[in-house]
Amino acid sequence: MFDTMTMTKVTGAVCGALLVYLMGAWAAESLYHIEPEAHGDEVAQAYVIEVAGAEVAEEVVEEGPTFDVVFASADAAAGEGVFTKCKACHKLDGSDGTGPHLNGVVNRAKAASAGFGYSEALLAMAGDTWTPENLNAFLENPKGYVPGTKMAFAGLAKVQERANLIAYLSTVN
Ligand code: HEC
Repeated sequence: MFDTMTMTKVTGAVCGALLVYLMGAWAAESLYHIEPEAHGDEVAQAYVIEVAGAEVAEEVVEEGPTFDVVFASADAAAGEGVFTKCKACHKLDGSDGTGPHLNGVVNRAKAASAGFGYSEALLAMAGDTWTPENLNAFLENPKGYVPGTKMAFAGLAKVQERANLIAYLSTVN
């Protein structure tokens, strides 16, 4: 079907096309290739588009919804149940027990229950406020947020429980 001349032409055309392709690829490579720099195994990019809040977005993906998001739709009634974990030490009637009274604690100044014997650590924070965000940080890890606190409580690991509890406390004045 094909004679030798046709085969030669076809082979020549294929080789020519390959050569053009290789030259083009080499030219493109030498024009645009950027050597990876010595950032471990990170490959250098020609350019990086900075997006405001990109890091925050990544954290959300890794750690689930943030406190603010959960708190916005928190369930105060469920938070009343969580408060049973605090009842041994905290009252809601204005009187102090092992811990200071917690009625009105949301947006109250820190260490502000007159007459309660606060730790030096918490007294050092007086002047600051128990905003929902600060309560969230304290209740997640009391000793991490107030190193030296005398509140003997391990913390509430679940953001949903903390949000519900703080929503409940904000209804108790
Ligand atoms: C074993 C007793 C105990 C338990 C349980 C406990 N607390 Fe406390 N809490 C304390 C003590 C004691 C302090 C005072 C800490 C200090 O002075 O460092 C305190 C302080 C606080 C404060 C700071 C109040 C202020 O006036 O500045 C908040 C808020 C608080 N507790 C919330 C809670 C919540 C909410 C729970 C339940 C999830 C809880 N605590 C569980 C003993 C306890």
